[in-house]
Amino acid sequence: MKALVLSGGAGTRLRPITHTSAKQLVPVANKPVLFYGLEAIRDAGVTDVGIIVGDTAAEIEAAVGDGSGLGISVTYIKQDAPLGLAHCVLIAQDFLGDDDFVMYLGDNFIIGGITELVQEFRDGTYDAQILLTKVENPSQFGVAELGPNGGVTTLVEKPKEPKSDLALVGVYMFRPVIHDAVRAIKPSGRGELEITDALQWLIDEGRDVRPHLVTGYWKDTGRLEDMLECNRKVLESVEPLVLGSVDADSQLIGRVVVEEGAVIERSTVRGPAIIGRDSVVRDTYVGPFTSIYFGCTLEDTEIEHSIVLEESTIRGVGRIEDSLIGKQVEVSPSSALPRAHRLMLGDHSRVSIASTRG
Ligand code: G1P
Repeated sequence: MKALVLSGGAGTRLRPITHTSAKQLVPVANKPVLFYGLEAIRDAGVTDVGIIVGDTAAEIEAAVGDGSGLGISVTYIKQDAPLGLAHCVLIAQDFLGDDDFVMYLGDNFIIGGITELVQEFRDGTYDAQILLTKVENPSQFGVAELGPNGGVTTLVEKPKEPKSDLALVGVYMFRPVIHDAVRAIKPSGRGELEITDALQWLIDEGRDVRPHLVTGYWKDTGRLEDMLECNRKVLESVEPLVLGSVDADSQLIGRVVVEEGAVIERSTVRGPAIIGRDSVVRDTYVGPFTSIYFGCTLEDTEIEHSIVLEESTIRGVGRIEDSLIGKQVEVSPSSALPRAHRLMLGDHSRVSIASTRG
């Protein structure tokens, strides 16, 4: 059995972060989203992993390398344009050969892994397995309709009028017959080869497509709110660990991780929170559900329920909440008069400044 991990995609809903970085590399509790998926695949006993990469290929390859650090062996497959999930299967055909495989969307986040599912599929005889979960906004996903015997009858990609509230989770298991399906289908209205259409083709051919209801936590990390929620979920169960230095004037409360080389001075960190490698936290309050990645400096500030990416500096500003701050960002007070907000923001940035009026 092999794995095909999809890590192309433009990540438009996470701009401006994704103008310069891959959405799959945004850290959740200081680990890139993509790594959680790769670890789940490895834990299920699958080590031969193909990763589909797009415009952010260089960055993904730099982060994952040959996969040996994660205990897997990685083959990169370049997709020149985002032509759909079924197109990814099409271009991965040489890599996949005649093997069964699990396809995993690199921005999907599942707690609890996929070990049992993979085992079930290995033991079973059906042609494909899809994961479904109840959602409140089915039109934003692929939607499945089940027949009276519990089998899948129809699958529609982002329907305007969904026939059920069962969304397709971004983990699929396939036998090699899927290659016939992806060759047979035509691009959808949005110009993509849809995996939902390939699955529908299998159903129409009388193949056995089994649904599996996911009851645990699942999230497609497309938006800021989703990233913050995943971060919260992971931090909730993090084990406290202090590898860096914490001075006598500081206090760590609850589940707090201080990574190697991090320095905490005259500060309070109220967990769950994680302070990354070589970051400095001085005269600062770090509140619950905050992840500070490596090489950051926080000075004379307050931050809570936020993710800060590597090597950013936040100094002398008021309280920051519910925020995702990119790499090497500087947030500091204006020194010169007149007192004003001085901003240099990338395209598609979003800033909400605490009102100073009345
Ligand atoms: C893709 C699939 C969709 C699925 C979703 C899960 O959508 O096309 O069927 O429900 O992933 O994350 P996308 O996120 O590419 O819009």
